[in-house]
Amino acid sequence: MCPHQEIELVEGEFDGKVLTCKAHLWQFDCHNGEGINPSDCRIAQYPVKIEGEEVFVDVEGVEPFKSHS
Ligand code: FES
Repeated sequence: MCPHQEIELVEGEFDGKVLTCKAHLWQFDCHNGEGINPSDCRIAQYPVKIEGEEVFVDVEGVEPFKSHS
């Protein structure tokens, strides 16, 4: 979930390190959740498991960071 306006980041662009939200192009470093643009935000971190070409994200018990406008 994007901390800007709560758009699902699954629809964003991912280059293997940087995740870009499709809505207003905020960017996040997926290695640590830190905001790149802007730098004063972050996304929550979740356990991830990769099986073949599928990525499984365990969202249980982790609340997404919200709001920053
Ligand atoms: S909702 Fe993601 S950048 Fe605005």
